[in-house]
Amino acid sequence: MNWSARQEAMLEAMGLRLWQRPPPEAIKVNDEAPAPRQPARADPPPMRTPAAVLTGVPAAERPVVLRPSQPPSAVSSLDWTGLREAVAGCQACKLCEGRTQTVFGVGHERAHWMVVGEAPGEQEDLQGEPFVGTAGRLLDSMLRAIALSRGEAAPERSVYIANTLKCRPPRNRNPEPEELARCEPFLLRQVELVQPRIILAMGRFAVQSLLRSSEPIGRLRGRVHQFHGVPLIVTYHPAYLLRNLTDKARAWEDLCLALDTLQSA
Ligand code: URA
Repeated sequence: MNWSARQEAMLEAMGLRLWQRPPPEAIKVNDEAPAPRQPARADPPPMRTPAAVLTGVPAAERPVVLRPSQPPSAVSSLDWTGLREAVAGCQACKLCEGRTQTVFGVGHERAHWMVVGEAPGEQEDLQGEPFVGTAGRLLDSMLRAIALSRGEAAPERSVYIANTLKCRPPRNRNPEPEELARCEPFLLRQVELVQPRIILAMGRFAVQSLLRSSEPIGRLRGRVHQFHGVPLIVTYHPAYLLRNLTDKARAWEDLCLALDTLQSA
């Protein structure tokens, strides 16, 4: 791919350095390599969860608490307050045992853009906000490059950021299908409430949840998908981009595709 001066300037704004294309044999044809895996077990000891803290609060004052045996249908009618409370008190899967806190989402509640990531990591679990670690800093640079922000801004300049999972998997292991399924109603309700004009699905677990596809990112990116009537662009996860510099240019193309899609809508 040849880069024009304008494209190079945009990459610069994104905080991305242009690299020399590596020889063909060095280019990965495929996709997001999974993050280095951690041993599956040896979870930290269970911590007090918000729900545990609520013990003793009169039932009428307690928010909806999802447990494994309960259908998630109640979530689909919640407003922002109810949804926040339901997420904070969720006990629908075992991830509630190890979390410091749930990580709900951040940004303008009627943002035109929505970013969907994977799951909170260590920093997110501690701070209660998605994408606040190294990957988050890259995400913020990418968004800044197209004049978007998770902070105070008009809806058209704003991004709402949410994860497929609201609790940190122990030792950052991959989300399990059961956990993704239990958490899905929360994400769906967030999309319904935000009513974004475009969704960026970052990484394979976001794609798995939203598009029900296990196709590699490399095969799904580059075209416009739909999620409940909202155009959805598939792109690489920022944590992956930190380890795979050659795909940063593709991520930039994905952002441009999202911009074009929004502008032509
Ligand atoms: N990775 C994600 O997918 N989400 C976060 O919030 C942090 C890292």
